[in-house]
Amino acid sequence: MASGFGVDVGGSGIKGAPVDLDTGRLLAERVRVETPQPATPEAVISVVGQVLGDSTGRFGLTLPSVVVDGTALTAANIDPSWVGTDVRSFVQAAAGREAVVVNDADAAGVAEVRFGAAQGVRGTVLLLTLGTGIGSALFRDGELVPNTELGHLELDGHEAEHRASDAARKRHDLSWEQWAQRLNAYLTHVDLLVRPDLVVLGGGVSKKADQWLHLLDVRPPVRPAGLKNDAGIVGAALLAAG
Ligand code: BGC
Repeated sequence: MASGFGVDVGGSGIKGAPVDLDTGRLLAERVRVETPQPATPEAVISVVGQVLGDSTGRFGLTLPSVVVDGTALTAANIDPSWVGTDVRSFVQAAAGREAVVVNDADAAGVAEVRFGAAQGVRGTVLLLTLGTGIGSALFRDGELVPNTELGHLELDGHEAEHRASDAARKRHDLSWEQWAQRLNAYLTHVDLLVRPDLVVLGGGVSKKADQWLHLLDVRPPVRPAGLKNDAGIVGAALLAAG
């Protein structure tokens, strides 16, 4: 059995676990440590060390940033000091082992395409994670087009993630109907840009799909994510395995 290790860095928690790369199952209960505040690179990387525990070998690390060649280029919902940080070199030096660093939504999408709601789906697949922000992962015939960042599209004069994320739903105290209206407008806009054959909606809110899925009224088929909260960990481990 091939195994790997994935660590998913989020705004509230840093989570990691060993992953069975053949099935996408976690091989042990995931470890979760609160994200330190301020979530500077130094503070976060020190927690990543705790989450890695006594695991060995190459691992995957996600960040809610555009990540090109191991370097973070944006920091929408994390400390601005990440911008320009060569995260791969930094985390490899701290952990003393090889790492692959990727955008969090891209990692979750890779897991959904391999083992979850988009398994075996050809054509254009778009995963959107609806959490603190909105993350996106775009695939064509199973191949990832990284760092698409469709959460930052404009919606009604605002950034889409400030209007239609799960955090926006809570912050503005929206009913499911009100939130679904915003999501419909957002998904229609995204449809005009990439014409997906399937949209997978992930993030914490995918666990409550019975509340909102029936309220969506858009052209592309929409499915809730299959791997729920573990998708980032699983995808990070898969990407680290190459
Ligand atoms: C970030 C993305 C990230 C998404 C979900 C956005 O604010 O720009 O990189 O994937 O949040 O965490």
